Amino acid sequence: MRYRRLGSSDLEVSEISLGSWLTYGGGVSDAQAEACVRKAFEVGINFFDTANVYSRGGAEEFLGNQLAQRPRDSYVLATKLYFPMNGDRGLSREQVLKQIDASLARLRTDYVDLYQCHRYDFDTPLEETMEALTEVVRQGKVRHLGFSEWTADQIEAALALVPRVEKFSSSQPQYSLLYRVPEREVIPLCKENGISQIVWSPLAQGTLTGKYRPGEEPAQGTRAASSQMGWSMDRFRDDDVLEAVQQLVPVAEGLGITMAQLALAWVLRKENVASAIIGASRPEQVEENAAASGIALDHAILEAIDDAVGDVVVR
Ligand SMILES: NC(=O)c1ccc[n+]([C@@H]2O[C@H](COP(=O)([O-])OP(=O)(O)OC[C@H]3O[C@@H](n4cnc5c(N)ncnc54)[C@H](OP(=O)(O)O)[C@@H]3O)[C@@H](O)[C@H]2O)c1
Repeated sequence: MRYRRLGSSDLEVSEISLGSWLTYGGGVSDAQAEACVRKAFEVGINFFDTANVYSRGGAEEFLGNQLAQRPRDSYVLATKLYFPMNGDRGLSREQVLKQIDASLARLRTDYVDLYQCHRYDFDTPLEETMEALTEVVRQGKVRHLGFSEWTADQIEAALALVPRVEKFSSSQPQYSLLYRVPEREVIPLCKENGISQIVWSPLAQGTLTGKYRPGEEPAQGTRAASSQMGWSMDRFRDDDVLEAVQQLVPVAEGLGITMAQLALAWVLRKENVASAIIGASRPEQVEENAAASGIALDHAILEAIDDAVGDVVVR
């Protein structure tokens, strides 16, 4: 496993990290989830992403129980706030102070390495949010700050408040070879300002593994077949997308790597992407995906990828 520095922070994160949306404390059994976390440590993953809202606190509780057995400096822990939790929501000072304490209790730790705004809060002045986040950093409950799915304007507005407030270290956008919107504005702006990307759904929720075939029902046991989780995948289930993804099979085979590894190496080709946050329902997936770290794709391969999927990419 290789590691990259997170923005201008002192955090070194594994190029492949393990997330917990729809999976841990929820859709995946605890035994399988525990095996995934164990495998993650075995293959050198040191970076774990969660959120207060995942399984309504269940994902944080699950991770807290797993991580409490390990030295605190052996992992980098990221969580988020914003989405509704038992009547609470948003990024007001009151919410920041309340949600960080609730997350720390569930995560069984005194601090998180990265505290992220899950979305932008239009109902709270940005200054109030940034001052509250700065307060929890100064209290030692949070080491570094991040945001998820903020626009370039919102990021610039937060940067304009520095150094009065703490500076963001990370941006968490959806990014994959099928969904490239961050390339337009967010990645160039962040690169200029020492903010790294940690990207979500780099496998388009499993679509880029090639396991979903056009015109066929998804196999039992996959996310797309799950009544609990399949709702989230609609946009990746169109036959034209699935047909394009099948065109990547010979590209991966030619390199002697798997489709998942090809898709992960593709997001990591950008220096500004510090980590690809994978989801995993089985330890074998963790092992396969972790092996994408260190795979370099040359210009001809990047062109072959664009030839295969160019028409269905969201830009
Ligand atoms: N900030 C945000 O708003 C936001 C939004 C979404 C996600 N996230 C973060 O990003 C993380 C990753 O998102 P994601 O779960 O959508 O990522 P993903 O890596 O694109 O998809 C993960 C799913 O794909 C399947 N899969 C993974 N590796 C595979 C392999 N080698 N072979 C076959 N199938 C494989 C598994 O599902 P099955 O085995 O069940 O098919 C797995 O749960 C989340 O856990 C969360 O931490 C953040």
